[in-house]
Amino acid sequence: MILTVLGAAAGGGVPQWNCACRNCSLARAGLLPRMTQSSVAVSLDGTEWVVLNASPDIRAQLAASPRFAPSVLRGSPVKAVVVTNADVDHIAGLLSLREGTNFDLWASVETHAVLSADAVFGVMAEGTVIRREVALDIGFGPLPGLVVTPFAVPGKVALFLEETMGTGHRMGGQTVGLEISGNGRRAFYIPGSADVPDWLLTRVEGADLLFFDGTVFDDDEMVREGVGTKTGSRMGHVAIGGPGGTLERFSGSRIGRKILIHINNTNPILRPDSPEREAVLAAGWDVAQDGMEVSL
Ligand code: MLT
Ligand code: MN
Ligand code: ZN
Repeated sequence: MILTVLGAAAGGGVPQWNCACRNCSLARAGLLPRMTQSSVAVSLDGTEWVVLNASPDIRAQLAASPRFAPSVLRGSPVKAVVVTNADVDHIAGLLSLREGTNFDLWASVETHAVLSADAVFGVMAEGTVIRREVALDIGFGPLPGLVVTPFAVPGKVALFLEETMGTGHRMGGQTVGLEISGNGRRAFYIPGSADVPDWLLTRVEGADLLFFDGTVFDDDEMVREGVGTKTGSRMGHVAIGGPGGTLERFSGSRIGRKILIHINNTNPILRPDSPEREAVLAAGWDVAQDGMEVSL
């Protein structure tokens, strides 16, 4: 199984178009790697791919690697897209996949409802893009030999739905994690989780690979950096550090490889010399980067 990080950043990317925070400024100056928004591609054979989350950067992400070049006049090695929630950074890229090539779009009933309610997603023509509903805890096969099982993780509704649906944490199809199995290997992709409950630790135990929510190191990081008023928790993202944070919660886990992804541009783990990055590496985690590839 091959997993390629198309985009390692949270919504906004690095640098974010309207941000001059420390990391965004360093990236603009060429002193930190630029990062596009949250997406991973998975393949068993390197020729057919499923994309997990369609970020607003998907056109450039697919163009950046020969892996995704069409081998026919019109067509794509991307055979399916799986969406973990209806956040803009995970669905806006669907609008760039509208040029008439067939693929399957897998999402929960909640996420499909958001897409169906918005006429602009009709650019994915019926009959060309097949919208397939996934059920929680039931595996489906987006590619031959690959089984993806979505499961509810603690999360919240998309930002643009908060006014009508509320801001609280909830468990259900609105935010899912993905278990990906194939060739006898087991990987997880969980770019957003508001918490690390015991059952989640049990679920990922013994996996070969875990991509996990690396949005913020400290819950109040965006407030402290002066770029916003929201905490990580308010956005549905558990902090990496601190009590009950990701490092502490996974400290006893046996997982082949642990990689933080969906990293916000305020996060100090992006700076090679930060104590936070040192803490993450010392705890056995890697920090995702665009183009990073893992073969299992
Ligand atoms: C998130 O990950 O919390 C969302 O992408 C935020 C957003 O939609 O801007
Ligand atoms: Mn996001
Ligand atoms: Zn910034």
